[in-house]
Amino acid sequence: MEDSTKGIRLQTDRTSYREHSSPIFMTSSFIYDNAEHAEEMFKGEGEGDIYSRFSNPNTSELIQKLCAMEQAEDGIVTASGMAAIFNTLAAHLQQGDHLVASNSLFGNSTYIINHILPQWGINCTLVDINDKEGWINAISPKTRMVFIETPSNPGLELIDISWLSKLCRPHKAILVVDNCFATPILQKPLLLGADISIHSATKWIDGQGRTLGGAVVGKKEVIAPIFDFLRRTGASMSPFNAWILSKSLETLQLRMQRHCDNAHSLADFLQHHDKVAKVKYPFLKNHPHYSLAKKQMTMGGGIVTVDLAGGKTECFNLINNLKMLSITANLGDSRTIITHPSTTTHSKLSNEEKLKAGISDSTLRISVGLEHIDDIIADIVQAFK
Ligand SMILES: Cc1ncc(COP(=O)(O)O)c(C=O)c1O
Repeated sequence: MEDSTKGIRLQTDRTSYREHSSPIFMTSSFIYDNAEHAEEMFKGEGEGDIYSRFSNPNTSELIQKLCAMEQAEDGIVTASGMAAIFNTLAAHLQQGDHLVASNSLFGNSTYIINHILPQWGINCTLVDINDKEGWINAISPKTRMVFIETPSNPGLELIDISWLSKLCRPHKAILVVDNCFATPILQKPLLLGADISIHSATKWIDGQGRTLGGAVVGKKEVIAPIFDFLRRTGASMSPFNAWILSKSLETLQLRMQRHCDNAHSLADFLQHHDKVAKVKYPFLKNHPHYSLAKKQMTMGGGIVTVDLAGGKTECFNLINNLKMLSITANLGDSRTIITHPSTTTHSKLSNEEKLKAGISDSTLRISVGLEHIDDIIADIVQAFK
């Protein structure tokens, strides 16, 4: 089955009402036939759901679709993308363990790695995503996990997942890829050798800026401890959000095609604008990882990152003169969104951390929506004027 068909056709079992579209199972718990049945379920010997913090038909449907799309054995879904990341780190890392991570990550991931994990005795080494020697030197027999984002937010830096997985394997280090920017449609980290793929489903998977959500997929043995941690600590996804996100997967392939076409056209246009100092888009030939992007991803993604020649003042002028584009911190929406990462999404990072993540005061991140490309470009042109 193709991804588009999986997103549409995989469905929770039909109820006695013979519904065509999956219903929402807004129930905290599930009923047992008798005391023996309850005992059997709690022993883990029965089929079905117990309590919606553990599982629910809507979350199971979403997990089933994501696993099918990424060719994963198992998965979990969480209340947000950060919950997916935090549960993965917390379930697998213990005091004394060593984590190696890229320094080009979403701001809150960097914050957890730099400020929270060290408080719990977990040693973290951040590596420049482009420094091959740095990765080779940092990963050692003590390394329990390696955490990357590719393409990264907002710098659109890429790293070769297959190359990194070969570095991790001899040390049995778990390779985790935050696959949020690529979605299951553009990139399949598990097929490239990663052990875990993570999503903020809040972004492209929802696609309309309505819900928060996160997902983790991988081999059964790496998902099992994360599921156990999640069901006990409770950052579970609500059935309603799972229902929305599962419905959204029905159109993900179609939407990503249009997001990527629009983003590529916008990147082409901005390259030739005199107020733009630099444009980054993985499928532009001048992107430093263009050939890797072509090898690892099927399309270039829906984000374009630009540096303006006039620095922060010019960035703020552009933002303030836009008539259609939205000024908000989200991304992956049907509406085109513009963000100044240095003063918003990544503002809690130190100047040094920002520079390492490729963010300056001149950087703007554009999440390219599904509007007609001529309207997106026209708004930017009038705002520049
Ligand atoms: C790459 C990446 N990972 C994780 C997250 C966190 O996701 P959420 O906002 O759903 O917690 C984000 C949010 O922007 C992100 O861009």
